[in-house]
Amino acid sequence: MGYAEQLFDLTDRVVLITGGSRGLGREMAFAAARCGADVVIASRNMDNCVAAAAEVEAATGRSAMPYQVHVGRWDQLDGLVEATYARFGKVDTLINNAGMSPLYDKLTDVTEKLFDSVVNLNLKGPFRLSALVGEKMMAAGRGSIINVSSTGSLRPGADIIPYAAAKAGLNAMTEGLARAFAPTVRVNTLMAGPFLTDISKAWNLEAATHNPFGHLALQRAGDPPEIVGAALFLASDASSFTTGSIVRADGGIP
Ligand SMILES: NC(=O)c1ccc[n+]([C@@H]2O[C@H](COP(=O)([O-])OP(=O)(O)OC[C@H]3O[C@@H](n4cnc5c(N)ncnc54)[C@H](OP(=O)(O)O)[C@@H]3O)[C@@H](O)[C@H]2O)c1
Repeated sequence: MGYAEQLFDLTDRVVLITGGSRGLGREMAFAAARCGADVVIASRNMDNCVAAAAEVEAATGRSAMPYQVHVGRWDQLDGLVEATYARFGKVDTLINNAGMSPLYDKLTDVTEKLFDSVVNLNLKGPFRLSALVGEKMMAAGRGSIINVSSTGSLRPGADIIPYAAAKAGLNAMTEGLARAFAPTVRVNTLMAGPFLTDISKAWNLEAATHNPFGHLALQRAGDPPEIVGAALFLASDASSFTTGSIVRADGGIP
């Protein structure tokens, strides 16, 4: 095994990824399995989870467990954790990735139901899952938790305020959890800038008359596989002295 391979090695680790069926989560699931991990792919649409898990297994030879869960529903998260530990006996890395950022025209269009569902998915679910898995990681003597946040939490646009606030809460939660689970379990934020996933389909890019990403240093949006380097860094022992931090993969926001 080469030096870099060893540094990022995840052989026989177990990586649980919410929202692992599509977009950035799917990329991270494949990447973890390519580095030797067994993975749990959890999202609401079981067919998508099953398909993604089958593709991961075929491509990597590692085990991939599909699991249907709504991360915004607190009472469904115990089942996810129980099923994961029943199948694999441990979780080495938890990636709280499932998220959504519904756009709206004006603030009064945001209903209480929509506000609650944004907070439930982007903040409340990750808190509960981190609590459940983090305690087990502490007992096992190792672990890494990655919370996928957004540069919107630092520079909130007018059309994503509840989402930005939830992700800002996630940033704060990361620091608190890093202390709660120290020194055994590391907890970090992986902060994404704009990536061309299903989320970006709502951005109406075709109508833009100028480069909508011109304000970024790299002047473009990210391709989903470009999340992988930072994710593997945080998931593996390559980041053994990194906790409570924010790692940005954002094309260089101003
Ligand atoms: N793409 C971007 O530009 C961008 C920028 C900044 C931050 N992020 C963050 O990156 C993360 C991944 O985003 P993405 O772009 O990959 O999104 P995506 O392509 O829309 O994929 C979202 C994933 O989350 C799952 N999901 C959605 N709601 C869920 C729920 N209630 N319970 C469980 N799973 C759920 C989806 O599967 P199901 O539909 O089957 O549930 C899917 O697997 C999110 O946290 C997002 O906020 C993305």
